Amino acid sequence: MCGIVGYAGDKKAQPILVDCLKRLEYRGYDSAGLAVVNDGVQVYKSEGEITALETGMPSMEGTVGIAHTRWATQGKPTAENAHPLQGCGGKVAVVHNGIISNFMELKESLTSEGHEFSSETDTEVFAHLVEAEYEDGDLLEAVRRALKRVDGTYAFAVVARGRDEVVAARNESPLVIGLGDGENFLASDVTALLKYTNRMVHVMDGEVVRLTKDSVSIVNAEGAPVVRAPERIAWSLEDAEKGGYPHFMLKEIFEQPAAIHDSLLGRIGTVEGDESFLDDSSFSSVKIVACGTSYNAGLVGKYIIEELAGIPATVQISSEYRYSAAARENPLVVLVTQSGETLDTIAAAREARKRGNHTVAIVNVTGSAITREVDHVIYTRAGPEIGVAATKTFVTQLIALYLLAIELGSKSRTLTAQARRSVVGQLRNLPRAVQDVLNQAETIEAIADKYRDARDMFFIGRNIHYPIAMEAALKTKEISYIHGEGYPAGELKHGPLALLSKDTPVVAIVSRDHTYEKMIGNISEVSARSSPVVAVANDDDTEIGKFADEIIYLRRIPSLFSPVPVIVALQLWAYYLAKARGCPIDKPRNIAKTVTVE
Ligand code: G6P
Repeated sequence: MCGIVGYAGDKKAQPILVDCLKRLEYRGYDSAGLAVVNDGVQVYKSEGEITALETGMPSMEGTVGIAHTRWATQGKPTAENAHPLQGCGGKVAVVHNGIISNFMELKESLTSEGHEFSSETDTEVFAHLVEAEYEDGDLLEAVRRALKRVDGTYAFAVVARGRDEVVAARNESPLVIGLGDGENFLASDVTALLKYTNRMVHVMDGEVVRLTKDSVSIVNAEGAPVVRAPERIAWSLEDAEKGGYPHFMLKEIFEQPAAIHDSLLGRIGTVEGDESFLDDSSFSSVKIVACGTSYNAGLVGKYIIEELAGIPATVQISSEYRYSAAARENPLVVLVTQSGETLDTIAAAREARKRGNHTVAIVNVTGSAITREVDHVIYTRAGPEIGVAATKTFVTQLIALYLLAIELGSKSRTLTAQARRSVVGQLRNLPRAVQDVLNQAETIEAIADKYRDARDMFFIGRNIHYPIAMEAALKTKEISYIHGEGYPAGELKHGPLALLSKDTPVVAIVSRDHTYEKMIGNISEVSARSSPVVAVANDDDTEIGKFADEIIYLRRIPSLFSPVPVIVALQLWAYYLAKARGCPIDKPRNIAKTVTVE
């Protein structure tokens, strides 16, 4: 997990590389470095974030270079292990995102041939391999030959002394080419390049790319030329920047009404006119597979699908699904992933296809790896999400799950035309319901502020709000570092009550539906242990004041749809807790936005 950048043009490469790198910092930020081609290959790297790299960095002349921001997997986050890495002759420099799985045996064999290693990384073996193959001066061929010995996942970018080119290769790690005028770029993600161009070409697995200032050539694994038309990316640079908010996360929380609107656009109208996400087969069950926040979206999806389509849905963590036994049934497999690059989820998609299942991906990033692994794609259209903590991608995943459930329900005839109209009406109202929550941001901040010193916090909900309690706990722990746990409210008495005290706030999602009485009972159990209760309740709930210490009132909408406004309130809750505690909200310690290792 890392971010890589490449540049070949006629401008000074150094500031462009550093600028692009900063936009990739969400991919990892424990060390960083760059290499610029001049008389030789000049490398500079350091431990820590990119701002640490800039401090003390010498001015580097040269118009071709590569750069890297790292999230350590192999070898500690030190300057030695930072990329670029070089072979012993210093002729080439390499940056890498991914993992070379056979690096131990390659390292042994290279060492026995006399190569000396200066880092603990897997990447360094590739630098030595390329250098050994580079004798004849054709860098692209050297990279292709070196790749033949490498197993694993990678996006590599390589420069060599005296060569005005960047050579890159991809296998299961994202890589995109940006086309400019008299300059060309490479990056792990389109957002890194939007300031310079919006004409992009996605590199596919097995391909090797040569980039100079005025040419881009791609060859496939067999060495045959590949011609691929560039895509014009509609995201503006402003889309990818903070837009005046102190953090990307807050900006992204506030973008949610528009994101929901975009997600629904053109997809719900008449039954005949709707976009179809499935072929004509009917499915007797659904299996949702995902990680992290996307998994929590899947858990909500289970309730939505079972309610609207009347078919059973199960949810599994991607890394578990892969090793589970195939059931006899033939479910529709739905892979949920905002990045489309999470390796566990991609592996799960492959496994599902191997099992002969029809696959659908719910994904935010256009052209990302998972889109090539599935039968159908539902784009969430949330726009770029930079904050590590997923917010608008989660909410739009829920929208995609409603849309999928509508289609499944219509196909299975569980959803009548009238019921469908009512569901569509509710979905159309969601941007407004979310805006109402955002208008209460100050109230939520004031309540959160009172609990800033908590060490532990419980989140409870029932039915469709139980996974929302889990997602709220995940948001809280990842950005505020308060230990948060999401629980079905009815389960507290089976263990967690033992942990409650006056210092353990409990956030309760209270919906005026068939779960209401039971939920009030659960809150009373909590209060009896002196724990402060913060209720997220409906605005027509006149009773809740008797049971809760603090109340965040939300406009009442049917429970099937209220996960959307409720999670927005609790995203703000997590955000303001983290802000009050002075945490690095957009870049929490030890976690990264896109996880391309298993
Ligand atoms: C990482 C991120 C999470 C995300 C998870 C799955 O752990 O920090 O925010 O939910 O990966 O990512 P995906 O791109 O597959 O949704």
